[in-house]
Amino acid sequence: MHNNHRSVVVLISGNGSNLQALMDFSNAGNYRISGVISNKSDAYGLQRAEQSNIPTTVVDHRQYESRDLFDQALSQAIDEYEPGLIILAGFMRILGADFVKRYQGKILNIHPSLLPDYPGTNTHQRVLDAGEKMHGVSVHFVTEELDGGPVIAQESIAVESSDDAESLATKIHEKEHVLYPTVASWFADGRLRLDGNDAFLDEQLLPETGEQIDAS
Ligand code: GRF
Repeated sequence: MHNNHRSVVVLISGNGSNLQALMDFSNAGNYRISGVISNKSDAYGLQRAEQSNIPTTVVDHRQYESRDLFDQALSQAIDEYEPGLIILAGFMRILGADFVKRYQGKILNIHPSLLPDYPGTNTHQRVLDAGEKMHGVSVHFVTEELDGGPVIAQESIAVESSDDAESLATKIHEKEHVLYPTVASWFADGRLRLDGNDAFLDEQLLPETGEQIDAS
């Protein structure tokens, strides 16, 4: 793994609206997206990357007999871009322990809930079903535990009585598109560090729910 904090590879599986936000912000920001990798050849995010002249690679998980073999192929594709940071942006494959260890402290994920609450999928509907008043989005370091790595930052939204899963998804996406580039910039500036299961921002240990962002 390269020590260049400012070179980023983004992993996607689909639409790539977070990728778009990361690309848009990088023009003004302090990191550079060196490449975009998708496990799906028809991911719309690949077209977004190509429109911005960012190189792309497809590593199709269906062509590998095991997760280990897929992870190895993915590692190779990543290493060709020599990044200092790997950003998961709607990447819908679970990464194995060896992969996560290899890039320890250098993988970020964004998750649509206020972690540690609601890991896993279908978060908007589960939040509604539970009658929660608050919902939100978290950016966290990736560790071997799914959606369980230390939270770096999160932003909350209020759940209104008129909300459904779709309206929550729209509101969450708006927050994601600001939060993710912000955290990527922190990393690029060398302000973030993972030590075991602890995340540090400017050498301050972050609380379990990370830095609370209030953009309103
Ligand atoms: C986001 O909601 C993110 O939280 C989740 O996957 C979604 C990706 O959306 N991990 P997009 O592909 O960036 O539009």
